[in-house]
Amino acid sequence: MGAYTAAYERSIADPTRFWGLAARDVRWLVPPDRVLDDGAPPFYRWFTGGELNTCDNALDRHVEEGRGDQPALIYDSPVTGTVRSYTYRELTEIVARFAGALRAQGVDRGDRVVIYLPMVPEAVIAMLACARLGAVHSVVFGGFAAPELAVRIDDARPKAVVSASCGIEAGRVVPYKPLLDRALDLAKHKVERCVIRQREQLHADLVRPRDVEWDEAVAAAEPAECVPAAATDPLYILYTSGTTGRPKGVVRDNGGHAVALRWSMENVFGVGPGDVFWAASDVGWVVGHSYIVYAPLLTGCTTVLYEGKPVGTPDAGAFWRVAAQHRVKALFTAPTAIRAIKKEDPEGALLAGYDLSALDTLFLAGERLDPGTYRWAARVLDRPVIDHWWQTETGWPIAANLRGLEPMPVKPGSPSVPVPGYAVRILGPDGAPLPPGEDGDIALRLPLPPGTLPTLWQDDERFVESYLTKHPGHYLTGDGGHVDEDGYVWVMGRTDDVINVAGHRLSTGTMEEVIASHPAVAECAVIGVEDPLKGQVPRGLVVLKNGVLAEPGEVCAELVAMVRDQVGPVAALKEVTVVPALPKTRSGKILRGVMRGIADGREVSAPSTIEDMTVLDALRPVLRADD
Ligand code: COA
Ligand code: AMP
Repeated sequence: MGAYTAAYERSIADPTRFWGLAARDVRWLVPPDRVLDDGAPPFYRWFTGGELNTCDNALDRHVEEGRGDQPALIYDSPVTGTVRSYTYRELTEIVARFAGALRAQGVDRGDRVVIYLPMVPEAVIAMLACARLGAVHSVVFGGFAAPELAVRIDDARPKAVVSASCGIEAGRVVPYKPLLDRALDLAKHKVERCVIRQREQLHADLVRPRDVEWDEAVAAAEPAECVPAAATDPLYILYTSGTTGRPKGVVRDNGGHAVALRWSMENVFGVGPGDVFWAASDVGWVVGHSYIVYAPLLTGCTTVLYEGKPVGTPDAGAFWRVAAQHRVKALFTAPTAIRAIKKEDPEGALLAGYDLSALDTLFLAGERLDPGTYRWAARVLDRPVIDHWWQTETGWPIAANLRGLEPMPVKPGSPSVPVPGYAVRILGPDGAPLPPGEDGDIALRLPLPPGTLPTLWQDDERFVESYLTKHPGHYLTGDGGHVDEDGYVWVMGRTDDVINVAGHRLSTGTMEEVIASHPAVAECAVIGVEDPLKGQVPRGLVVLKNGVLAEPGEVCAELVAMVRDQVGPVAALKEVTVVPALPKTRSGKILRGVMRGIADGREVSAPSTIEDMTVLDALRPVLRADD
């Protein structure tokens, strides 16, 4: 039996022993009484009775164990022309000081702190400072607009918000502070304190006494020590898109998270202490939480924080420049970034100028890795290109080619095999397991391994209803697909109304809510259609109210602007079309899946319950207009 099969079987047959052993790589202040607490299904808790501090494991511990002078964080920002490295010792001191500053602003164990920052070191510092205090951070991606930020503020009810004067996007300065001010006006919850990082590109106006400058707050602060947290205490909340417009607050605990991420670095990614790891994502997404911040630091790696794009900062060789300059061993990004590079530099000519001898592997996740992109990257890089599949809820890979444990042959289009701890099952509509090769719901038998979500923030009911009800005893991933005869998982796409735009997870429901609020709109649908660069892009279809006098083109332009203003530029809704009617079932359900299929050029048969076939026929040319 190979190392993978042996480990996988052990993890499923005896999870307590498997994760109990993995937990030895974490520094506990109080060892757990139980590895897996399975007393109240469908809720499971890992490492109950244990106490630790995640920041201690990510920073202080490494300084004490001799890594004080090793770079912990390299900030590489082509958009500001800055490269700055922080050793473990420096980062520990800075984080301790900022934790003291937060405490002085009234933040204590269990309090929430919303972080709305671009890709600057302060984002990492603020996250770790919260962990140090036992406070719970909730990072909101900078590409979301004020109303989305307000919804998250109202759900998390933070004591403080940490933000910056601006971000820098595609050569333009994006003022963050006016967005924050608007969000605070919109939110019902009143935030007592905002700590604002003033960047030299733009100075923000402060609202005293609520707002305090980062430097001011730090100058007056005493360093704070690590506060012991229960293994089961929340470390962070990360909001993610669901089917409805209301985002889901995915909760991450301290203990299971530290154990799982530490284990994943060596076993999945094949990297260990001292290696340089670079996840070219954003701290606002789960990839950024897990693989820019926590996993590399828990492992004693050097992590790279990149404030730039794959192309245009300054060119399509940017990733290779960063990888060469910092001797990156493992690079992790989204397929869309590779497609953007391929489009501008189809032969990979820009690779020639860089010494990539340190780079072992390119890891890709966040959306399906299409075989064309896989083959191109494998050819130009001439090293393993590894797809892996996971989601915000799990926090770390569900299926992967485990480079550290036992590398296996790659099948282009598949993220390979279930990772130890994940009992992947393909279930039919009636819950029955399906044979190899047959598509169904991809579900995970409970209990989920450590590091995965224990619940949704203050909403056990929604957690159960969203994930655990359709197939009792299983977690529903929301993805459909199959497992083949060799045990490889094939993820074919979402089975709900979540779409994936340039590796960004978005809800069509949120966009529909915004569009439906326009006075001229009678009804609408937003669907995700295939896009050669971004994987998917949203497309809006609207039916106008009778008697609307405005030009349809004018209404569509207003709708595009509204979505940008209320959801954010990242929604990337550029196309809205007025149609006479939307196809529905007799019970009134809009046939989004059928429309999506037609737009993507797939053969789709309309359900027998369709109300009026002529409506669908009339839409066909509109949906296929781009061909
Ligand atoms: N703050 C403010 N605006 C932001 C933003 C942020 N943090 N991130 C993105 N935006 C804006 C962009 O500027 C763009 O605005 P525009 O419509 O005025 O051009 C819009 O949101 C859409 O952004 P994006 O989807 O990133 O498209 P793009 O055309 O700017 O870039 C790629 C395309 C492929 C280069 C880019 O999406 C990319 O690097 N993707 C990698 C994906 C990734 O890291 N995913 C995380 C999960 S692994
Ligand atoms: P997020 O929660 O933002 O990480 O998005 C998770 C979703 O992205 C998954 O449910 C999938 O639909 C999709 N996804 C992520 N990685 C992959 C992958 N390697 N292959 C296919 N789909 C993926």
